[in-house]
Amino acid sequence: MTISIKQLHEHFVGEVSGIDLRDPLTPDQTREIQEGMDQYGVLVFHDQDLTDDQQVAYTKNFGELELAVGSNLLKANERRLRLEMADVSNLDQNGVVLTRDDRRRMFNLGNRLWHSDSSFRITPSKFSLLSCRSEPPKGGDTEFAFMPAAYDGLDAETKAEIEGLVTEHSLIYSRGKLGFEEFSAKEMKTFAPVRHSLVRTNDFTGRKSVYLSAHIGTIVGWHMPEARDFVRELVEQATQRKFVHAHKWQLGDLVMWDNRQCMHRVRPFKDIGQVRDMRRTTVAGVGPTVEQTSERAA
Ligand code: OGA
Ligand code: MN
Repeated sequence: MTISIKQLHEHFVGEVSGIDLRDPLTPDQTREIQEGMDQYGVLVFHDQDLTDDQQVAYTKNFGELELAVGSNLLKANERRLRLEMADVSNLDQNGVVLTRDDRRRMFNLGNRLWHSDSSFRITPSKFSLLSCRSEPPKGGDTEFAFMPAAYDGLDAETKAEIEGLVTEHSLIYSRGKLGFEEFSAKEMKTFAPVRHSLVRTNDFTGRKSVYLSAHIGTIVGWHMPEARDFVRELVEQATQRKFVHAHKWQLGDLVMWDNRQCMHRVRPFKDIGQVRDMRRTTVAGVGPTVEQTSERAA
């Protein structure tokens, strides 16, 4: 079988056919997919009936796995999935839909804001791979915005202004945007802000991206309201419909995206009484985007 990729959007997103992700990849297939990710930012695979083991094995072709620790409110006895998988379903450890007032559900609503996965980590993630394991409910599309195109759309003055800027990211900031503010002292420590460069360059294509995320709470050296207003404008610009692709899920879809080049969000759906079983594996990045402050680097 040979892989072929059909572009689905003017700027990005490839739909891949000619590959069964349950089988080990050949070196050529790994390279084609890696290059496809650099070029298209998002790759869509249909009819991939994966087990957790197969999803983890496939993900390992692209680098070290990022473990789902320090990224949610789950206690050890509340995990439905293994540590190699981020549970972005609406289910508890027994497979029961979370109730309306459940703290974990409130926290997960943060995924409805435009973000880049793990930008709250010192080493943020490279790729995310999301597998659809249940018949999708109405709504709940995942939308993607392509940041190299958004960068190209900025005027010269803004490009000059953002060059060299450093932002601070934290789950406390993204959750705070929806009014979720009750964190324990331990969670506050786990979620302490980290720093990232606002402009990133893709090694393969040489294209620059604006590295935006709901996790951003300020810009180093700026007053918070001014920083937030500036970032809000950038997010508005970057998520204009011409830069956005909406993925409508089908059972068995696997979508992988490059967090260095894309933002994403899940659209609203009726999450009470309907199962949405989505499982994510994540490839870690290779290192920080900028130096951290001495306290956090320790
Ligand atoms: C994620 C995420 C979106 C979705 O997996 O990182 O934001 O559609 N999920 O569930
Ligand atoms: Mn996400």
